[in-house]
Formats: sequence, structure tokens, C-alpha cells
Amino acid sequence: NNHLIEKPQEEHEALLATLPLQPSGTPNFHPKQPFILYKGAWIAKSLVRGALAMEQHFKSRPTDLLLVTSPKSGTTWLKAMIFATLTRTSYPLDQHPLHTHNPHQCVTNLERVFSTGRRQIIEAIPSPRVFNSHLPYSVLPQTIIDSDCRIVYVWRDPKDVLISMWYFSGKIMGGADKIATFEEVYNSFCQGVNNYGPIWSHVLGYWEESKQRPEKILFLKYENILQEPVKHAKKLAHFIGCPYSEAEENQGVVEQIVELCSFGKLKNMDVNNNEIPSMSAHNISPSYFFRKGEAGDWKNHLTQEMTERLNTIIEEKFKGSGLMI
Ligand code: A3P
Repeated sequence: NNHLIEKPQEEHEALLATLPLQPSGTPNFHPKQPFILYKGAWIAKSLVRGALAMEQHFKSRPTDLLLVTSPKSGTTWLKAMIFATLTRTSYPLDQHPLHTHNPHQCVTNLERVFSTGRRQIIEAIPSPRVFNSHLPYSVLPQTIIDSDCRIVYVWRDPKDVLISMWYFSGKIMGGADKIATFEEVYNSFCQGVNNYGPIWSHVLGYWEESKQRPEKILFLKYENILQEPVKHAKKLAHFIGCPYSEAEENQGVVEQIVELCSFGKLKNMDVNNNEIPSMSAHNISPSYFFRKGEAGDWKNHLTQEMTERLNTIIEEKFKGSGLMI
């Protein structure tokens, strides 16, 4: 419905034109989409446009649920988990929509929809709505901060985020090394110049807020969920307002949801296991979101020197926050 697509606003375009561009020499895997610095974060220009449109138009409802991650931190997994948890009584689990839909088709990214002027899609969704976003806390629209809507935040060891990002970008570009070397991407990551970076600011923004408002933000770590999926599935269900009943627990429903959303299960479904670039405006195929699904792959990619330098940066940034890698 093209007539429903809104044109970008002139004052937003004027603001976008004044924002700093990423430093020269720092790689970007979307040549037409440089990162620009908005409220302390490096974000692709069209998505800053989306954030500005959100600030102006988005109306949060108290029943909304928002999954926030830094890209490559477990978005796909948590989209599946949240969606499956919320809809578990609507379908027999062996006929659940996750068998026929990629998790990204089940949960929409807010800033992307707003960046293309299609906010009507969002407004038409009946409550309770579930969205995801990669926006840092400092960039979230005030309506989300002020309303009673809840946020699930997931972070991951930044070293693994870097590795995951490197492979993902490579898939999209048909070889990431065509754009930049791994060393260049690593250096840029250490400077904080990457998609929605710096990653430590992203994590800290939500961490600090979750300490103030634990009822508003559930703060989770990818590696911990991997280690204890059932415990985290219960925690998640409780937080999003649909805790497992005793009967469900006795019937093993928690384990079944965990299994349905597990890496091995999702990766091998036909809907996810295909290379056809079918998603969004980019050459992204569902299979790109499933690579290894493990903790610690950075050990196979980073030299000791690279590891120490990045660890030191992160430890310094996290100092005093109570957060550890
Ligand atoms: P790796 O590249 O390290 O394998 P995002 O969804 O935020 O883009 O993150 C992608 C990362 O999550 C990839 O990490 C991917 O393999 C992993 N992943 C995808 N689905 C998963 C699942 N069900 N369980 C665990 N990890 C998953």
C-alpha cells in the first residue's frame, strides 16, 4: 500500500545532515548507509531517520513488550523465545508458526519500519504487541521510557559479537574481506565504531536502568541463557506476564519451548535453512542468522594481544558498574 508510506520529514533530514559521519578508514558493510553519530551511538543513517520518526510518532502502550539487543547478541533466539512463550497455548507446539516463519517475521524491528515510513503497520497491530529494537537506551523514544511497557534486554560477550558480526557481514557482502580486513573491523570495534556501537555504552545504558527499574527491564546475558535455558525460559515467561503454571511445568512445556527455540532445531527448519535472500531490503537470507550459536568462538579468531586489548577496554568501561564480561 504505497499511499500509506510517509515521506521523510524535512526537519529530520536537516538534522541528519548535521550529524558527524563515521571516521574515514572505519569500515562499513553498507556502503550507501554510513554510520552517523546520534546521541553517542553510531547508527546507520536510515535507522537514525527511523529513530527520529519513532520519537515523533510512536505511541507506546502499557502492554507493549520490547526486545532490545545490540545486533548479533541473540536477537533471533530471543525473538523466537518470546514469541513462543506468548503464543504457547494458541497452537499445538508441533504446529507452531515458528515451524513455518523465521523469527524475524514474527517480531518486527521498530526503527526499521519507521525508517521506511510505514508506521501504520505498527499502529494497526492489536495489543499486546511485541517488537524489537537495537536502539541504545539514550535513543529510545520518551514514550517507551515513560510508559509501563516492558523491555527484555539481551547482551553477549562483545568479543563473540564481533566475530558473529564479521561472519554475518561477510555473508551479506559475499565476503566481508572485500570491504575491510578482520583487523580493520576489530580496530573499528575497539573504537566503538560499529552498528549501534559502542557496544559497552549500549549494554551499560540498559544495565544502569535495569538496576533502577527491574520491573521495567529484564537484563539477560546470552551465555547464561545458553548455560541454563530452562531457568531463563521461566524467568522470561514470568517477566512478560505469562508464567508457566504448575501443570505446564509438570508436563514439560518449558523444556518443549526451549527445544523448539534451540539453535539446532531452528537452524534445521526449512524456513530458516535456506540461502534465498528474502529478508528486508538487504541481501539477507534467514540462514545467515544461524551460524554456530555457541559461547567463546572468539578464541578461534582473536590473538592473545587482540583479546587482551578488547578485554581491557571493556573492563575499563564496565568498572564500578557491577557488570562483568
Ligand atoms: P554466532 O554467529 O556466534 O553463531 P542475532 O540474532 O542478534 O543477529 O545474533 C546472531 C547470533 O545468534 C549468531 O551467533 C547465531 O548463530 C546465534 N543464534 C541464532 N539463533 C540461536 C539460537 N536459537 N540459540 C542460540 N544462538 C542462536
